[in-house]
Amino acid sequence: MLTQAIKGVKDILPSDSAKWQRLEKTVRDLFSDYGFSEIRTPIIEHTVLFARSIGATSDIVEKEMYAFKDQGGDEITLRPEGTAGVVRAYTEHKLFASQPVTKVYYMGPMFRRERPQAGRLRQFHQIGVEAIGVSEPGIDVDVLAALTELFTRLDVHGVELHINSLGCRDCRALYKAALKDFLTRKIDSLCPDCQRRVDTNPLRALDCKSERCKAATSDAPMMSEYIDDNCRAHFESVKQGLDDLGIKYVVNPRMVRGLDYYTRTTFEMIAVDKKGAQNAVAAGGRYDGLVEEIGGPPTPGIGFAIGVERLLMMLPEAGKGASNPMVYIAAIGGEAERFGQKLANNLRKSGISAERDYSPGGLKNQMKKADRSGASLTVIIGEEEIASGAAILRDMKTREQSEVKLDKLAEEIRTRAKSL
Ligand code: HAM
Repeated sequence: MLTQAIKGVKDILPSDSAKWQRLEKTVRDLFSDYGFSEIRTPIIEHTVLFARSIGATSDIVEKEMYAFKDQGGDEITLRPEGTAGVVRAYTEHKLFASQPVTKVYYMGPMFRRERPQAGRLRQFHQIGVEAIGVSEPGIDVDVLAALTELFTRLDVHGVELHINSLGCRDCRALYKAALKDFLTRKIDSLCPDCQRRVDTNPLRALDCKSERCKAATSDAPMMSEYIDDNCRAHFESVKQGLDDLGIKYVVNPRMVRGLDYYTRTTFEMIAVDKKGAQNAVAAGGRYDGLVEEIGGPPTPGIGFAIGVERLLMMLPEAGKGASNPMVYIAAIGGEAERFGQKLANNLRKSGISAERDYSPGGLKNQMKKADRSGASLTVIIGEEEIASGAAILRDMKTREQSEVKLDKLAEEIRTRAKSL
């Protein structure tokens, strides 16, 4: 074999795509119920967009971006996430003027050069929403309601919604200074990454996975002690709104998120497995300064993205497999095959999926294939049937067979399909 797929980049085979399509359909219906329309932004953007919005000291920008110079010398990056591109599009097309409240959703591949493992890929997929233009806490509640409702509709359990407030730029600056002071005093107890980041991105020490940092920051000052009155009131209203809708959540003051654009409400939907290991299936938050950062007017925003591969691992298995045809046509002999080709085409044109064998063997062989295809009905037609003008129609579930006139076959199948 010349080469294989790139490490951490997966094919979605026909046996899996039905599951993806079901998820996508559920998501489209749900987002439409919550008032979001689809947006499709490019997979490549100018590198500066991500460097500025996600933050130069974030893990993504420091070490995970697929960034390259193209043939014309432009600095290009394969999008590592969807928010920056959506906000760029919102600003570039001046949606703040034509559609001040913009509620959009997107789905598609994202790229991060991470160490591949279960649930951590280099090309992965996100389904996300962004609501831009509303500062009131009601939109935070709506966005979180849509996220939790998705898990309900998909019948996925074992998740916890963790929320926190990171405050606004002003109160976070005070907090950052206090945290920096604290970490500087503990610098020798931190991991090398966090030691390096104390000056540039001290918050990351709070969600560092290393045991050293966990121990060293156990009594670190928390954002909640520094949050100003407006940000506190906003967070209280969000919690009140969630309580009013009966949405359960855990306030997690150590949740800081790895992207720099967040302000105020942040959250993660965490899957807790049987061994107690935690894994974010979805995450998001407010980014009230991002539109301005990208060159638009001061405009608030909030959204989330779901990791599709992680979510699919949690979906009940039901209905796995490639899509099944409604009818299998087992034709034996030249004339019967020609009839079969025409019948299949006729059925497909009226929206009935039909499958047949392109290099047909004997009847036994074709019946095996019909069985394996998962079809509900099978048409059996050979030279005898052509001669007598009637084919056999077999119900694959009940195994009942009946003779149907060739010119009535399509109509009979259409009638039966309605009740299947
Ligand atoms: P994020 O936390 O970087 O946020 O990613 C969101 C979700 O994408 C994660 O919770 C995870 O499920 C999935 N994910 C991330 N990296 C990988 C990977 N390498 N392999 C598989 N799944 C992965 C964002 O991307 C923000 N743009 C979310 C957002 C939208 N915030 C506001 N609006």
